[in-house]
Amino acid sequence: MGIVFKLVLLILMLCPLTINSSFQYLTFVQQWPKGYCTANPSRCQRNPLPTVFTIHGLWPGNFTKILQNCRTTSYTKLKNFRELRFQSFWEHEWKKHGTCSENMYPEATYFSRTIQLSQRHNILNYLATGNIRPGSNPTVSSVNSTIYRAISNHVPDLMCVTPPRQTPALVEIGICFTATMTTIIDCPSQFLRTGSCGIGTINFPA
Ligand SMILES: *[C@@H]1O[C@H](CO)[C@@H](O)[C@H](O)[C@H]1NC(C)=O
Ligand SMILES: *[C@@H]1O[C@H](CO)[C@@H](O)[C@H](O)[C@H]1NC(C)=O
Repeated sequence: MGIVFKLVLLILMLCPLTINSSFQYLTFVQQWPKGYCTANPSRCQRNPLPTVFTIHGLWPGNFTKILQNCRTTSYTKLKNFRELRFQSFWEHEWKKHGTCSENMYPEATYFSRTIQLSQRHNILNYLATGNIRPGSNPTVSSVNSTIYRAISNHVPDLMCVTPPRQTPALVEIGICFTATMTTIIDCPSQFLRTGSCGIGTINFPA
């Protein structure tokens, strides 16, 4: 190999290390609409509610710090996406989270990769492998272990909200990836929200 070629290779190999210096992994978060609405009735706006997990977001992080609002790059309205109704929500997600991985994923890439992840990771199907279906009260540990097995033995992030005097309602499930999105990793224990689901049964409302 020529020395120039070797140098180029070396630079390519080192590059991810330098450009990822602050963002090290991504959490892909999907939301159960009925859980969200059970937990926040006053903020529940969609009717009818989707009966699939919807995308909350793709959140770049590093292992020491939750990253948010990293840059002020403005949002360009998305075109060529099927659902164009939620521009203001997407703008919010871009500013709060997307800008933190912009060095690797410019806006259009960030959103199209997010949609790809949602097509690859169907949470309802994952839960069904453990016989967990909407309209039931599974234990936290069965939801956790079912998703864990479905994503080849990696720890997911669960999030519940407990309405007054009720059982915690399942609201979100996150799956964590390396910065390149090629490999699933354990969601970092220091930021897990699974504790919000308590230790017993939870409500997975239909
Ligand atoms: C995590 O992000 C913060 C803020 O951008 C940065 O100062 C820190 O160096 C990052 N940590 C690592 C290990 O990359
Ligand atoms: C989730 O599963 C992982 C892997 O088995 C385990 O280490 C963790 O304690 C579980 N968490 C809960 C809340 O069950």
